[in-house]
Amino acid sequence: MSKVFRLPAPTRGTTTRTRQPDSADAVRPAPAGRRPGIVAGYLSPHPPHLIYGENPPQNEPRSQGGWEVLRWAYHRLRRRIRDVHRPDVLIVHAPHWITMVGHHVNCVPNPRGVSVEPIFPHLFRYHYDFHTDVPLAEAIADEAAELGLVTSKLRDPGVRVDYATIGALHMVNPDWDIPVVSLSANNNPYFYSEASLGQMEVLGEATRRAIENTGRRAVLLASNSLSHLHWHEEPQLPEDMEREHPYNNHQYRWDMKLLETIRQGPTSRLRELIPEHIEATASETKAGSLTWLLSALGWPDIAGDVLGYGTIIGTGNAVVEWTPENVDD
Ligand SMILES: [Fe+2]
Repeated sequence: MSKVFRLPAPTRGTTTRTRQPDSADAVRPAPAGRRPGIVAGYLSPHPPHLIYGENPPQNEPRSQGGWEVLRWAYHRLRRRIRDVHRPDVLIVHAPHWITMVGHHVNCVPNPRGVSVEPIFPHLFRYHYDFHTDVPLAEAIADEAAELGLVTSKLRDPGVRVDYATIGALHMVNPDWDIPVVSLSANNNPYFYSEASLGQMEVLGEATRRAIENTGRRAVLLASNSLSHLHWHEEPQLPEDMEREHPYNNHQYRWDMKLLETIRQGPTSRLRELIPEHIEATASETKAGSLTWLLSALGWPDIAGDVLGYGTIIGTGNAVVEWTPENVDD
């Protein structure tokens, strides 16, 4: 069934699509000494509790803290972004910008508004204001279309940005001083059990091609939790850490199996394990963000660096870094 959402790829040279850049910024080589390409990829989960626990000025609710180990993992990630990777752009794939038909790319130059988590509005009402790398966003959509994916460029500035996009981007870069490209999650895998993650492989390839063609230095963010069964009742104090632990040992053991494989590498071992982990734990990686990320990286023969793991309302969450060896700083 999912095949109806993928078009036959046109033969190169016969497409009528024009690919003129919108501005001179469309091809912008990285400064001397900073090679373009994908310099790092992160598994960067988005539960609203992480931002709630941080008390940033953009979020209306206040907390006493909580989920520190995961938040400290993000603090390490921020230092690597700032001191080592220094990207031109952050590209995020998030499971709660749900598009039922095709893969959408946010091409709005300056998204602004309030993002609200519909299940936890008492934890997350976040005022966002950021800038899109529009030429790169358009290039990703064009490359994806050329590879046969149904694709759309979001142009409506009134569309509210989802909390999974905002959550990952804030935790990675709370200063919001790096341009962004935001990709939707084509949600048909949730409806067609036989659907595979194959389209995410194609979207990853399209993302890599667009980065190379535009000369960007990019960091990729897969905004996914791991095991995804969670509590149905919230403590009186949401950040009461006495109540925070894995949903059950089965979920925890499968998360550890996935993370041990990540730590050992190479990433090719994850091609089979990710679907098994989804089947065993209802993992949020079913939305495809992690597969998109690893495909864009080219399934490199490297291990990932697990910066931290913790549970949030019982779900498993890990912050993981992959740094391709073929890109120097
Ligand atoms: Fe989520």
